[in-house]
Amino acid sequence: WTLLFTAAIAAEVSALSFPADHPPVAWKPAGPNDMRSPCPMLNALANHGHLPHDGKDISKEQTINAFGSVLNIDKEFAEALFANGMTANPKENATTFSLDDLNRHNVLEHDASLSRQDFYFGDDHRFNREVFDETRSYWTGSFIDIQSAARAHVARVNTSNTTNPTFALSDAAMTTALGESGFCIVVLGDKTAGTVQKNWVEYLFENERLPYAIGWTKAQNSISYSDFNDMTSRIKSASESSELAEQSCKTLDDYGLQLYL
Ligand code: HEM
Ligand code: MG
Repeated sequence: WTLLFTAAIAAEVSALSFPADHPPVAWKPAGPNDMRSPCPMLNALANHGHLPHDGKDISKEQTINAFGSVLNIDKEFAEALFANGMTANPKENATTFSLDDLNRHNVLEHDASLSRQDFYFGDDHRFNREVFDETRSYWTGSFIDIQSAARAHVARVNTSNTTNPTFALSDAAMTTALGESGFCIVVLGDKTAGTVQKNWVEYLFENERLPYAIGWTKAQNSISYSDFNDMTSRIKSASESSELAEQSCKTLDDYGLQLYL
């Protein structure tokens, strides 16, 4: 059994392929001094040790390496995502960002998340069971598709809009939010079919761990910025379809809310 055990570990380690500048560690949840973010994927990558386990000072190189080797995201897209993350670091001339920079409300973090409360209610960055259960109730069937992804977002926007007196979501932030479901489909699922196995997505959110144990493997073809943009536009169109538009509270313009992005 020792051999089997060793082989299993070797397979896990090689599947994970740790970035050269970061020592491999087994999956381990955050300890009391580790930073985490409102992003289930970055938290998972830190828990696996593909990004620094303490969540601090994440460099461009670490992002490119982790995104490429673990998720098959191409270099150009990884660079763009890193640049986006950098906008949340308030320090001038910084070359890294830390996971808790991402918790700053209305920089990248926004209202009506799939699995986090709105800032108004307190903690906007840790997983919240009640919020996620609302989201999941719209993911009917064993696959999330473009329609059910859109439906879940529209529902979350409606809930926030009716319960949070400070609710704000610009058109740009709504696109970002829809893009987060786009991520789930292109990174965990099938970008051509526009579907992803629901239990893989739930596993990522609930455990902040990549769903290897239930059969997920990284995409065979590399994932580009345009794959992501296409998927986001498909989800956006679905969210604006007549059926959902009726259900939707529309955008912030309809409410005269503040534009922040
Ligand atoms: C959410 C940042 C990469 C999946 C978020 C949020 C931030 C963020 C700030 C919180 C938004 C909110 O809900 O208020 C980043 C940065 C990335 C990155 C800076 C790269 C450097 C990824 C990747 C995936 C991903 C590669 C792939 C699956 C998600 C999902 C959410 C999210 C699904 C939605 C969480 C929710 O609504 O509860 N991300 N992210 N992210 N991110 Fe990331
Ligand atoms: Mg949020």
